[in-house]
Amino acid sequence: MLEKTVNILGIETSCDETAAAVVADGTTVKSSVVASQTKLHEKYGGVVPEIASRAHIENIYPVITEALNSAGVSRDDIAAVAVANQPGLTIALIVGVTAAKTLSVVWDKPLIAVNHLHAHLQSAMLAEQELQLPAVALIVSGGHTCLYDCESPLELKLLGRCIDDAAGEAFDKVATILNLPYPGGPSIEKAAQTGNPRSIDFPRSLLGPESLDFSFSGIKTAVLYHCRGQDMKGQNTVGSMGKQQIADIAASFQQAVIDVLVEKTRRAIEKVDAKTVLLGGGVAANDALRAALAKMCQSYVPAKKLLVSPKPYCTDNAVMVASLAYHKYNAGLFADLTLEPKASGG
Ligand code: KG4
Ligand code: ZN
Repeated sequence: MLEKTVNILGIETSCDETAAAVVADGTTVKSSVVASQTKLHEKYGGVVPEIASRAHIENIYPVITEALNSAGVSRDDIAAVAVANQPGLTIALIVGVTAAKTLSVVWDKPLIAVNHLHAHLQSAMLAEQELQLPAVALIVSGGHTCLYDCESPLELKLLGRCIDDAAGEAFDKVATILNLPYPGGPSIEKAAQTGNPRSIDFPRSLLGPESLDFSFSGIKTAVLYHCRGQDMKGQNTVGSMGKQQIADIAASFQQAVIDVLVEKTRRAIEKVDAKTVLLGGGVAANDALRAALAKMCQSYVPAKKLLVSPKPYCTDNAVMVASLAYHKYNAGLFADLTLEPKASGG
């Protein structure tokens, strides 16, 4: 007898993307809908929680409906409803959590709660049948930078995390300093393509020889000082800089961040004697980072296997939520209606 397909509806509203997706058996993407709020937050240079929450409320019903329609499934075909309930902006998360709870009750389907960061990690495993262990995972997003020892999609041990600004946050803030368009990550990457990554020696904060934690607030300040003088009393020179100067700053900043991410991942590999490295989160869309990690993994004999999240699933999406939820479904790990959004939790 053929086994029944397990279709899971995933919902994601942790920050500024309202997303829903239907994924079959954890790997087959039947639909993925993402309503981005970039235009709404652009003029503020960052995500405004209140605006994000209101936009999620407007978008959630049409986004879920579109995800079901384009997957060609109805409520009867859905095995469970999954939602990212932490970490994130609580007034944004609550919209997805409330929608998921409501559907779970009305459709009489199990509810599954997923950690947003663990879901980012899952997107690097989408195409992989079997994970060669031990494995370490680097998650680099707008709000978090974390390293995990990964035994399976559901068994993750935090090895290190950012103690101040996350990598994506540093990209966004440096883009603002350089008057580059929001969101900062893709803008810095584009500007860096024509810049010299060795033109300015920005600091690489490694926090001691053994540390697996991250700190990116120092480099952001170093860029600010570079543009405005050490005492911050100088003129903001960015307006009078040429395109090449901006490109050189962007490239040097990006290189410094990448050097730190690669070095910390290398330390994590050594610590757990990893065979596999996973990369996910919004900053994982950066080609220079992908190439630098690939080079480091190749430098080992035998080479470490690098699994990178496909580009459409680096930034926030619901495919990663539905995909991780499949493992929880099989393990019988369900949530109940007391589920609440939580700002923290890695
Ligand atoms: O994972 P994500 O969509 O949201 C969070 O969970 O925070 O990550 C968004 C972050 C933003 O900071 C954005 O600037 C950064 O990912 N990002 C990039 C690139 N694309 C997005 N950073 C560097 N290079 C990119 N190409
Ligand atoms: Zn994210």
